[in-house]
Amino acid sequence: MAREFTSVGVVGLGTMGAGIVEVFARNGIDVVAVEISAGAVERGRATLTGSTDRAVAKGKLAEADRDALLARVDWQVGLDALHSVDLVIEAVPEHLDLKQRIFAELDRVCKPEAILATNTSSLSVTEISVATTRPNQVIGIHFFNPAPVMKLVEVVRTVVTSADVVADVEALCERLGKVDVTINDRAGFIANALLFGYLNHAVSMFESRYATREDIDAAMKLGCGLPMGPLALMDLIGLDTAYEILDTMYRRGGRDRRHAPVPLIKQMVTAGLLGRKSGRGFYTYERPGSPVVVPDEHTPLSTGAALADGARAITKVGVVGSGTMATGIIEVFAKAGYEVISVTRGAEKSAKVCEAVKTSLNKGVVRGKLSETDRDAALGRVTWSATLDHLADVDLVVEAVVEELSVKKALFASLDEICKPGVVLATTTSSLPVIDVAMATQRPADVIGLHFFNPAPIMPLVEVVQTIRTSAETAATARAVCAALGKTGVVCGDRSGFIVNALLFPYLNDAVKMLEASYSTADDIDYAMKLGCGYPMGPFELLDVVGLDVSLAIQQELYLELREPGFAPAPLLEHLVTAGYLGRKSGRGFRDHTKR
Ligand SMILES: NC(=O)c1ccc[n+]([C@@H]2O[C@H](COP(=O)([O-])OP(=O)(O)OC[C@H]3O[C@@H](n4cnc5c(N)ncnc54)[C@H](O)[C@@H]3O)[C@@H](O)[C@H]2O)c1
Repeated sequence: MAREFTSVGVVGLGTMGAGIVEVFARNGIDVVAVEISAGAVERGRATLTGSTDRAVAKGKLAEADRDALLARVDWQVGLDALHSVDLVIEAVPEHLDLKQRIFAELDRVCKPEAILATNTSSLSVTEISVATTRPNQVIGIHFFNPAPVMKLVEVVRTVVTSADVVADVEALCERLGKVDVTINDRAGFIANALLFGYLNHAVSMFESRYATREDIDAAMKLGCGLPMGPLALMDLIGLDTAYEILDTMYRRGGRDRRHAPVPLIKQMVTAGLLGRKSGRGFYTYERPGSPVVVPDEHTPLSTGAALADGARAITKVGVVGSGTMATGIIEVFAKAGYEVISVTRGAEKSAKVCEAVKTSLNKGVVRGKLSETDRDAALGRVTWSATLDHLADVDLVVEAVVEELSVKKALFASLDEICKPGVVLATTTSSLPVIDVAMATQRPADVIGLHFFNPAPIMPLVEVVQTIRTSAETAATARAVCAALGKTGVVCGDRSGFIVNALLFPYLNDAVKMLEASYSTADDIDYAMKLGCGYPMGPFELLDVVGLDVSLAIQQELYLELREPGFAPAPLLEHLVTAGYLGRKSGRGFRDHTKR
């Protein structure tokens, strides 16, 4: 029989603690909520009242239930109030000495059978536990932010945590409606070990002005379907907390440079820019604690007029290529009202592409997203050709041929001969340096990357890749075109992986390394990222969809260009590719897809 928890204590009512109080009180458990001062108690109480009032306003909580929930919470200053609770969860700042002091005190105050739990994200639960005389009753219960919303709880057992304590806490998580994954005590557990290298990398992109905060966040939201961008997430986590987590992970996790906090984070913490909780972090918020972002001096002017500033007029577009991307891109331009000339390597290929575009447009009609008239008009705007000479008077060329540098360079050299002056020449390459294709022409200032995502008609993101030779006019034109296509164009520099792949693939590779180290299972790692971080797919699901060979190739490119030791491809990924386990397309990758 699992132990009954009728009352619990929560210590520290900041970002996490206040949310954890809500989780327990919502589930009918009495809570003693403890802070360091009366003022801090009031802040915690205000967070809970604000959150439950919002739930009532949204119709998610009845007024009577809110009142009952609030009545279950006993607000107190000082740990002495915790003498009779069955379980305590500590959620004070991420400092080992502070947590150890609190646990020693809890050990003295709490009844002997009480379980003492920490919500630490990165510190050693074992080191915290030895500050007490009952390390076998100490455990990690790691909630995710915001605690009332996120489904995942990581239950962290140390080598001395007793099995019945683990079982009791697992049963409690179930009662709270959470999904738990039980794991050993390792820096960052599952989710943070995979998340924080990515967050730190995103901050370094921002710090080095590789892209703006809006573009980095939009890229990850729109390119990967994440619920929020990395910089907005840093603001939600709190920059002081994020700093401590990174610092601990760096020291505990083998001094991986990717966890060495980017200097900007420390500067922001020192300047009091802690994120949402202080009203300002990477973004500016309506007031401290508010989720509402307000414009500040860094907010871009995204009006149509500003986008078109300096842009050349584009009416006629050439699309070169006959693959999946070219087909999607032809459709996107034609639907947006551009006159399109599709160039392939022969009439047969043109017929195929034409058929594919028709099929896709027809799907839109069947789904009620496109009228028959609009479909016919879009098709009517496309001319099918097999000679590049027909691109002599287009305003923009989008190249989407095979991902081979020699082929792309030869094509750009030909376009340079054929196209009129002032044309914008764009490549859709996802891994080759844009400057290499630019230098195959006599007009590198007019060359830019337009990295569409697959399927192009659906994915709302385009990475606009500027080389060191791209002119401001060309960049303005490319951004205006993205806007006219109804896409979000994010501007970035000409580096391997641009924004999305550079941030996404090392995380996927890290997940493979975690699996390889037998720290957890593919299922639990997938759960952790979906339920703890709101990712639409877990890393192994995504790897199987993208293809393990494609993923390995991208990771190899990143490793070669950036020479970051942490980017070295996971041996397990290499072995699976060698064995022909490429993911869904071959029937087997990390999972067997032939049985379903
Ligand atoms: N922020 C996140 O996204 C997140 C997610 C999961 C876990 N965590 C972990 O949760 C813990 C708390 O982080 P946070 O982001 O909520 O921090 P926070 O700074 O928002 O809140 C910490 C609170 O602890 C209080 N406090 C400090 N000393 C205290 C004491 N002696 N007694 C009682 N209260 C005290 C502070 O007044 C403050 O209100 C950390 O271990 C962190 O790693 C954070």
